[in-house]
Order: sequence, then C-alpha cells, then structure tokens
Amino acid sequence: MNTLFCDLLLKWDKKSNHRPMPWKGEKDPYKIWLSEIILQQTRVEQGWAYYERFVKQYPTVQKLAAAKDDAVFKMWEGLGYYNRCRNLLFTARYIVNELNGNFPIDYEGLLLLKGIGPYTAAAIASFAYNLPHAVVDGNVFRVFARYYGIATPTDTKEGLQIFNTIAFENLAKNKAGIYNQALMDFGATACKPMSPLCSSCLMQSTCEAFNQNRVGQLPVKLKVIQKKKRYFDYFCFKVADKWLIQKRSEGDIWANLFQFYLVEQEKQMIPDENYINNVIVNQLSIDPKSIVEKVIHQSYQQQLTHQLLAVRFIQIELKTIPKVFEKGIWVSTRALSKYAYPKTINSFLSDEGLLKA
Ligand code: ADE
Repeated sequence: MNTLFCDLLLKWDKKSNHRPMPWKGEKDPYKIWLSEIILQQTRVEQGWAYYERFVKQYPTVQKLAAAKDDAVFKMWEGLGYYNRCRNLLFTARYIVNELNGNFPIDYEGLLLLKGIGPYTAAAIASFAYNLPHAVVDGNVFRVFARYYGIATPTDTKEGLQIFNTIAFENLAKNKAGIYNQALMDFGATACKPMSPLCSSCLMQSTCEAFNQNRVGQLPVKLKVIQKKKRYFDYFCFKVADKWLIQKRSEGDIWANLFQFYLVEQEKQMIPDENYINNVIVNQLSIDPKSIVEKVIHQSYQQQLTHQLLAVRFIQIELKTIPKVFEKGIWVSTRALSKYAYPKTINSFLSDEGLLKA
C-alpha cells in the first residue's frame, strides 16, 4: 500500500480543507444516501438547499416512504433526471416495508438497493459505518489520473479496473469516511478540472502529472457523447384564467412531470399560421373560430446527457374548452406553481410571470 498519497491527503484535509457542508460528518445512512443522490445531480452549492429542504420535510426514511409521489417530485424539481427521484421513493418504501425501516449495514446489502451503485454504496458504507470501501467518481478519477500520471481512459473497462484498484490501495482503511470525504473535497476544490491549485499543492513534488507538465491532459476520456436533437413545441392552451396541463407518461424523459400539450417534431418547423392551424384544426379538431389569441414565445434549449432539446411555447387562448380536452386538467394561473415541471417549462413560466407562490 502506498501511504504517501494517503498521508498527504489527510494532512491537506486537516490543514486546508475548509468546506463546510451540512452532510459532512453525518452518520445517519438515510441522510447520507439523500445527500449523495442529490449530489449526483447537481453541484454542492445548489444541492445544499435541496438537501436541507428534503431533510426538513422528510427527516426519516419512514417520512419519505409515506410521502405522496407528486410532492417528492415537486421537491426534486430543477434537479432533473427524475429516474433518480423515482428510485429514491422506491427504495425508501422498500426499506420501510421489507427491511423494517433499517438500512443494510454493509456494502453488499446497500448495493442490492435500487438506485444504489458501487459509488453510493461505498459512500454510505464509509461515511455511516466507517467500512473500508473507496469511493470512485469523477473527482477520484481526476485526482489519481494526475497524481499517478495515468492516461488510460476512465470510461473503459480497463480504466475502471485500474482506478478501482488504485482507489482501494490508497484508501485509509481505518478512516475510510474521513479519507473519502477528503478525497472528494480535494478533487472539487484543489485538484479541480480547470485551473487546479498546483502552485500551492502539498502533493506537487510527488504528482506525476505536475512533474511531467501533463495536468491539463489528464484524465483522459474516450467517448464523446453523441446527442440526439429533439424538437418540442408546447401548445399552451388557455381558456379564461385556466391552462391545460397534462401528466407525462412513463417511458420517456420526465415521466410523471407535468407539461403543456406537446407536439414533437422531427425537425424545427416554422411556427407560421399553416403549422399552428395544422395542429389545432387537423390534429385536435378545434374550431379556429374559438381562437382568441396566439402568442409565439421565445425558444429555450436544454442539454441532457444524451439529448439536446429545442423547446418552444406557443400560447393559444380559446373562447371555450374544446371537446378533445374536456377531460383534461385545467388549472388557474395561481395554481400552476403547485405542479412539478421539466426545467424549460419552469423557465418559461417564470419568464412569463406565471409562477405565483
Ligand atoms: N459529491 C458527491 N458526494 C459528495 C460529498 N459527500 N461531498 C462533497 N461532494 C460530493
């Protein structure tokens, strides 16, 4: 085992790690799990407030398990990738119903839970129980790729194996919790992706990448993700003060979130009379005489891991509720903020002053 890296890291942690975070030192596996799932979605600065809201509203796994799905989605709103939120709920209910409300007490047991992979299991096992499991995430790849000068791509089977081995070899086995947190903090605040603080780093003299002037080239990633372009046109139907919203079904992004009536196109359509009338009259059989006003709002873009979305909002005010949407959910402007939406819809609602608390 190489203890030099570990010694230097723990020294850095004592001397230079000034990173207060509400989950630091936490021993409750439920709260650690919550924080880790939130932090897989967002940066610490933004995740902090989400964590505090979740812990306040759902202080125990029992409280989370008993929550209404929509209330939890609403609290998750803005974090994206709602599968994580669904898994959170599923696992909370599984722990309460099948495990008597007790979290598994070892790594292997944690790994069996839905939504908990090797990273999260290692984080919970080390932070909550001080078990000797090494966390391996983007921060850890970066720190070790640089410190040991490893150019094997991190997103390959071989790379994963190498970094897992190194991570375990360097782990402070009797202080796994403190060590793992220190490693993440070191990666996030000192050995940063851009402008790392090499000049004041106590690892400088033994850092391979620094000594070979390769800090900017490491770590290496093989794949560049090809993003699929999708074109979403939301038709925002309004009758008097009521808006038509619909719940998205399972099987695509944003399952169970709310949205306006969506028309997805293969390519960007010009939002002219022809296009709008085709949707309203031909697709929905709405009487064009019922239209009071049409407003085409600005476009929005959203990048997801594998998709690039071009999103437009076409507001159509009608005199009366059309037959196709008689059974739809019509909500007043005031009530719009009670539902959870995908990010671009929230931006639109907020830009248009429609999110009244
Ligand atoms: N990112 C993921 N987990 C983290 C943690 N426990 N502290 C800081 N950043 C993190």
